[in-house]
Amino acid sequence: MKYSRIAGTGSYLPKKVVTNEELAQKVDTTDEWIVSRTGISSRHVSSPEETSSYMGYHAGLHALEAAGLSANDLDMIIVATTTPDKGLPNTACLLQERLGITNIPAFDITVACAGFVYALSVADQYIRGGMMKTILVVGVDVLTAVTNWDDRSTCVLFGDGAGAIILQADDKPGILSTHLHADGRQKDSLYIPTWLPGQRKEEELSYIHMDGREVFRFAVKALGQVVEEALAANHMSQTDIDWFIPHQANLRIITALAEKLKLSLDKVVITVDRHANTSAASVPLALDEAVRDGRIQRGQTLLLEAIGGGFVWGAALIIY
Ligand code: UT7
Repeated sequence: MKYSRIAGTGSYLPKKVVTNEELAQKVDTTDEWIVSRTGISSRHVSSPEETSSYMGYHAGLHALEAAGLSANDLDMIIVATTTPDKGLPNTACLLQERLGITNIPAFDITVACAGFVYALSVADQYIRGGMMKTILVVGVDVLTAVTNWDDRSTCVLFGDGAGAIILQADDKPGILSTHLHADGRQKDSLYIPTWLPGQRKEEELSYIHMDGREVFRFAVKALGQVVEEALAANHMSQTDIDWFIPHQANLRIITALAEKLKLSLDKVVITVDRHANTSAASVPLALDEAVRDGRIQRGQTLLLEAIGGGFVWGAALIIY
């Protein structure tokens, strides 16, 4: 078993939907501004019960079902999240408990919006190395819980949700390659202040802070480079890509990348209009949607990418 491949996908979206018009009643914005600058029309917003472990659990169950497996078949759980239920235990442990299983390793990775691509890369290495056969990989975030709803420059951008895959050992690829990067010098462009009461300055609230223009500029450049790196590593060109599944932060970033790759938008999976930016969930949510509606078929070549606060970014080239 030389490779890992996606055996099943799943997702969960909170029941509550908030439209741009509803936001425009609370802050000084308009549907026209939000749609023209971001492509977002609505987003799902979690209730207090819809925590990361709750949403991740439901997405995981769907992925297990799609793979024809049960929780007892899992060897490991990796959850990518920046919004854990608790400081400890980690979200993967809470998800494991919800699944009713014990004694397999379960851990979180905190890589903001790039979390799923990072988690996929880690899971792929465990499987290729022969240590594990079946891994649940979840991307989940509740960024609306750390959103300042009085700040129009950020509150229109985010939504909540979870996406999951089952990654399994296989003789055929699978995950062809993953490519990860980070640049900590950009730590002030997109961040959430510490949640630790003992280390928090009195005046500092734990909301998302973002230099939107800088994130936009860096994202287009870094993502353009990493998708080219992924193609080159596999001796492929953009014509080999059946589906491009980008991080869903802003339709303008997605469009700029599609143009760079000379991909028509009908080869791009887009959910940002209905989901907004769901952080670590954005790529697996889009993947699951396109698998379930029949656009993505077995044997097709997928290109995934994501970028988040750090900055951290990455890409994956996959035969589905
Ligand atoms: O995973 C990564 C997560 N983040 C991102 O990917 C975000 C990347 N950046 C972006 O998507 C864009 O920079 C934004 C959508 C955040 C902003 O778009 P922009 O075209 O860069 O606008 P801007 O920040 O330059 O602001 C333009 C104007 C400003 O007014 P003035 O100073 O020109 O008078 C803002 O105050 O738009 C104003 N503005 C708004 N107006 C209406 C900012 N937010 C809003 C709003 N409604 N919601």
